[in-house]
Amino acid sequence: MSELVLVETADRIRTITFNRPEKKNALTQDMYSAAAEALDSANDDPSVRVCILTGTQGVFTAGNDIVDFTQRPPNFGEHDTPPVRKFMLALLNCQKPVIAAVDGLAIGIGVTLLLHCDLVVASDRAVFKTPFVDLALAPEFASSQLMPRIFGHAVAAELLLLGDTWDANRARETGLVNRVTPADKLAETANFMAAILAAKAPSSLKASKALMRQPVESIEDRMDRENTIFANQLQSPEFAEAAAAFLERRAPDFDKLG
Ligand code: COA
Repeated sequence: MSELVLVETADRIRTITFNRPEKKNALTQDMYSAAAEALDSANDDPSVRVCILTGTQGVFTAGNDIVDFTQRPPNFGEHDTPPVRKFMLALLNCQKPVIAAVDGLAIGIGVTLLLHCDLVVASDRAVFKTPFVDLALAPEFASSQLMPRIFGHAVAAELLLLGDTWDANRARETGLVNRVTPADKLAETANFMAAILAAKAPSSLKASKALMRQPVESIEDRMDRENTIFANQLQSPEFAEAAAAFLERRAPDFDKLG
């Protein structure tokens, strides 16, 4: 595992840290591969209930390493999936909730990846920018669809066309970020949110996340899809534990179910 991406698992929370502060955590292919592996392996690891993606003091990430980009541009047409795509697919397909904790700079893919996380907490000194057009590039990894959907077209154009820099409050107001904290409370807040999720019924969380990520379909189709899952959950040991806990006026303990 690359030292430029630290991976720690404790208390059912896997924390994946971009750790290249001298280069503003600019992401190289090796870093994408390491982060992809950490997310992929979380799916089959029962000791992981939640993942946190974070950076270092004052820097989430300055985006793709521009030197790496020019020297080894990803070839999306080749048979071998480039590491950046592997990483974004790992994030997209992560079955467990992913919380991003952003302190300071989030640039380029550092913003794009937030659209694929489940919850985002940012420090009050976080800044967000997608300078793709400024670099004569284009939006990536479905941000041209997700940003207009989340923010509305006009607001998405601030980031994707104008290349505006958003501060944490603007990011909160637009729905990019869930919560803003002082920088010294960021890790604690992300861990607090992760611990809340980690104590919940894992299969219910997984099913709920998958439903929220399903492509748009007719309301009736969605009702049917939800009903099937709801009925399965009603038969699950987790529901039995949740119901027993309610009746016994205690907190549920899903850990004992394995
Ligand atoms: N790729 C490669 N290296 C990067 C980088 C990137 N995306 N972002 C920063 N770095 C490197 C700098 O080259 C510099 O390296 P050096 O010390 O060897 O010269 C080091 O990180 C520190 O960056 P610096 O520019 O000196 O810090 P700063 O605080 O003045 O500015 C940024 C920080 C992030 C605003 C500025 O570096 C920047 O604009 N980076 C490019 C961001 C970008 O466009 N990303 C999108 C890519 S698609």
